[in-house]
Amino acid sequence: MLAITGIGTLVTNDASLERGKLGLVKDAALVVGDDNKIAWTGESINLPREFANNAIHVGGRAIIPGFVDSHTHLVFGGDRATEFEARMSGKTYTSGGIRTTMAATRASTNDVLVANARRLASEALHTGTTTLETKSGYGLSVLDETRSLQVATSITSETTFLGAHVVPPELTIDEYVNLVCGEMLTQCAPNAKWIDVFCDHGAFDVDHARAILSAGAHAGLGLRIHANQLQHGGGVQLGVEMGVASCDHCTHLSDADVSALADTKGKTVATLLPTAELCTRAKFPDARRLLDAGVTVALASDCNPGSSYTTSMPLAISLAVLNMNMTCDEALWSATAGGAAALRRTDIGALRVGAQADFALLNSPSHIHLAYRPGVKLVDAVIRQGKCVAGSLA
Ligand code: NIG
Ligand code: FE
Repeated sequence: MLAITGIGTLVTNDASLERGKLGLVKDAALVVGDDNKIAWTGESINLPREFANNAIHVGGRAIIPGFVDSHTHLVFGGDRATEFEARMSGKTYTSGGIRTTMAATRASTNDVLVANARRLASEALHTGTTTLETKSGYGLSVLDETRSLQVATSITSETTFLGAHVVPPELTIDEYVNLVCGEMLTQCAPNAKWIDVFCDHGAFDVDHARAILSAGAHAGLGLRIHANQLQHGGGVQLGVEMGVASCDHCTHLSDADVSALADTKGKTVATLLPTAELCTRAKFPDARRLLDAGVTVALASDCNPGSSYTTSMPLAISLAVLNMNMTCDEALWSATAGGAAALRRTDIGALRVGAQADFALLNSPSHIHLAYRPGVKLVDAVIRQGKCVAGSLA
């Protein structure tokens, strides 16, 4: 049992409290039960006496649900600092850089890949991320995609088979799509919960993406798609047609794309990845347009060595508020409950009674500071499944 009191602002994301979408409680307390689930939330003055005696007082700091980063690529070898430097001197980002990381990944041992993925997962944890999804996609052969997913399972249960990232140089697109839908899928599916396709310029077209997602669904995997990152195209509408959990990027959207997402009534989430736009000097997606249409929006880091080499969800929140017209409340919801929706999880992303006790203690009185103080380390402690796994509550 863990009881915390003196919480300046508690973000519960519990709509049943009828305190807005974030379910905000001021001067709050929170209790974690022996099952490591949330047992009680409310105002400090109402904390039952049996908990109050041993409660830790956090001096008016805020507590938020742990971030749910529903889109990362943490299994890779090497880095692409040279490519980044060239881009900052005027070169344009293209999907071709994925093959540079493919070569470095194929040349890396499993131990090196595990160590790199763990380093990044730990970095994410220390900035408040308590759940993350991660993908294969830099192996692009049966052997290297299979071991990439084995590596992925060492850091998370939210693993995604992204064999269809780009076509490797040794195969034609038709040969590769057949491989992805056949032997590669068979080998990778046991270690994957999801399948994803990069449906965009320089990667896979809508027909190939449909074939790959259909094969994945047939193998029992949940569906996700990288869509409309580099240009307008049919990716988002394919995603909606296939009932994917999330269309990711959504940088270039037509009115029809926005309506299609809205018509799913939250079944398909639009996951925005503002650090990818930041690091590729691209136009930020218009979050306001999606939210005003009624689309469920998630924010994620897209951490990868090419387009977004950061694990920071607080940075994604800052950018969403400062550059994408999200309110502070909307951005925090999207980085927590929105990410949970994108992973179709109801046990995380909110601090309601019965939910997994995953949360972060900030060194500020409210969540607003996450956007208001860009780039500043604001996370004092991270609690995952009821245990303090980073920093300290003291
Ligand atoms: O989500 N868009 C496709 N995949 C990654 C980038 C991969 C890379 O450049 O290495 C992304 O941005
Ligand atoms: Fe991505």
